[in-house]
Amino acid sequence: MKKLRKAVFPVAGLGTRILPATKAIPKEMLTIVDKPLIQYAVEEALEAGIEHFIFITARGKSALEDHFDIAFELEATLHARGKSKAPLAKTRLQPGSISYVRQQEPLGLGHAIWCARELIGNEPFAVLLPDDLMVGSPSCLAQMAEVHAEHGGNIICTQRIPREESGRYGIVIPEEDLGNVTRIGGMVEKPAPADAPSDMAIVGRYILEPDILSLLATQERGAGGEIQLTDALARAAAKGTSFGFNFEGRRYDCGDATGFVIANLAIAMMRPGMTGPVEDFLSARLPVAAGRAAERSHVAL
Ligand code: UTP
Repeated sequence: MKKLRKAVFPVAGLGTRILPATKAIPKEMLTIVDKPLIQYAVEEALEAGIEHFIFITARGKSALEDHFDIAFELEATLHARGKSKAPLAKTRLQPGSISYVRQQEPLGLGHAIWCARELIGNEPFAVLLPDDLMVGSPSCLAQMAEVHAEHGGNIICTQRIPREESGRYGIVIPEEDLGNVTRIGGMVEKPAPADAPSDMAIVGRYILEPDILSLLATQERGAGGEIQLTDALARAAAKGTSFGFNFEGRRYDCGDATGFVIANLAIAMMRPGMTGPVEDFLSARLPVAAGRAAERSHVAL
């Protein structure tokens, strides 16, 4: 079995759920505490041993490319002022290890991945959706890479959800419990709770075999008129070599405003030096919490 070396980061979506924030800034560049979402995903991939980073970008996404480049003037200024360059350390990857490919039209996640076919070649690859922020130790993708080394095939990250939320997710049809993973017989996109085949929802991490690319090539448009990855995964599952990995860490859906705010608070609470002030703020022990003051004076924020 070929070693997992490549990861695809689809970042060409429009981010309509969190407008106007994403009008001029890519969703994946929105900041959780002090790092853009994309950097959390890249660090997670580094921990899983990924060597080649493939970004599927689009018009208006050049900030992503700049983020992982050398900012010569900034570094020179920091140096001249005697300030630390340490916060920039993980924004620099090995020269030549990042590739960018354009998705010319936002035709869906499946189409975005297919756009990277020449860069992926004939080897397994990971897919990370940066707006799903995963917190775990080892990292979510590192855990999945171990499962992939053991089982091969397609590894699809899942989390158990309350059934009433099934209409927001792809839901897997479990076939066989294999201990650390579940063999998957198929999947259903956004079923009504009564029709959901399980409570195992697909979340934004995958390790895929390259033959998924030929399924995507012949894929008809599915839900929302988009070329859906879930449809191709459902076809691939018929071979019996797709496995659901249940991630037990935390996932924050940063693709909408509520999830984004919760992620900021949760990550801040994990940062040394921030936990206390944030906890104080949340439990309203501060003299006047800004939000409450605004509420009292009916200020529109
Ligand atoms: P989403 O379903 O969150 O879509 O995509 P979106 O366009 O980013 O956001 P909303 O729903 O309009 O608010 C999941 C991931 O797939 C990428 C997105 O950038 C995101 O990382 N994607 C989606 C693409 O790269 N291309 C697409 O055509 C669609």
